[in-house]
Amino acid sequence: MKLYAVADLHLGAAANREALDGVIPRPDDWLLIAGDIGEKREHLELAFETLTPRFRQLVWVPGNHELWTLPQSGALARGHAKYEECVSICQRYGVVTPEDPYPVVDVDGRRVRIAPLALFYDYSFRPADVAFADAVAWARESGIRCADEDRIHTDPYPDMAYWCQARCEATEARLHQACADGLPTVLLNHYPLRDELARLPRVPRFAIWCGTRLTEDWHRRFNAVAMVYGHLHIPTRQLIDGVPCHEVSFGYPKQWQRWASSINDAIRQIRVG
Ligand SMILES: [Fe+2]
Ligand SMILES: [Fe+2]
Repeated sequence: MKLYAVADLHLGAAANREALDGVIPRPDDWLLIAGDIGEKREHLELAFETLTPRFRQLVWVPGNHELWTLPQSGALARGHAKYEECVSICQRYGVVTPEDPYPVVDVDGRRVRIAPLALFYDYSFRPADVAFADAVAWARESGIRCADEDRIHTDPYPDMAYWCQARCEATEARLHQACADGLPTVLLNHYPLRDELARLPRVPRFAIWCGTRLTEDWHRRFNAVAMVYGHLHIPTRQLIDGVPCHEVSFGYPKQWQRWASSINDAIRQIRVG
């Protein structure tokens, strides 16, 4: 089978919901979805209703938009409970989540482990002379503030950095155990796992909301043959220590309409050879 990936479907946008219907069916292949399907339960349901019949298997990880709690959407769950709500929707559709055992599959004839991760950010993608407590104010100096600051609640953790650290510690232990057999791994996360992948030329200080330094050596430690992520809305492929790192986002209509003629241009094949 072949492995495909996409991220940041942002189905809150009508043009993206329309585009979704044009996804080419690949019933023998797997599709990794690297977060930001949308903010509401209905967005996840629409994605899975459309895509589960078109692929052999879907794999999902949460983006920041899935973790938003919007009072007007009727969602009451906050923080970890909001994440669990998304996981339970995935389970209804048979979609693999970070809470499931990591699947081992043959991709292009090579056995690989697919590791969906739910790792967030902790403001550590900031210059060394900016203190943790000053990171959001430092970004604000350049006129930016991520909407997450008002829309993501981190219950039961005191803040995003604690939640991120807890997720990293638990995931690291799981990966350590799972990867002891030496199989190559595809690491799937909404955020890049390395600082130098979180480069946003137009809004450089937005990087503080784009990942954590806690994962900087995971591609080496866990035998990665590919890292797949989204969030930046800047599709790229870069090599880190020889490991291909794919940013696979679709993005908002004004973004993808500049470079894609259909959503299929955003669905990237991930090779592991
Ligand atoms: Fe996004
Ligand atoms: Fe995002």
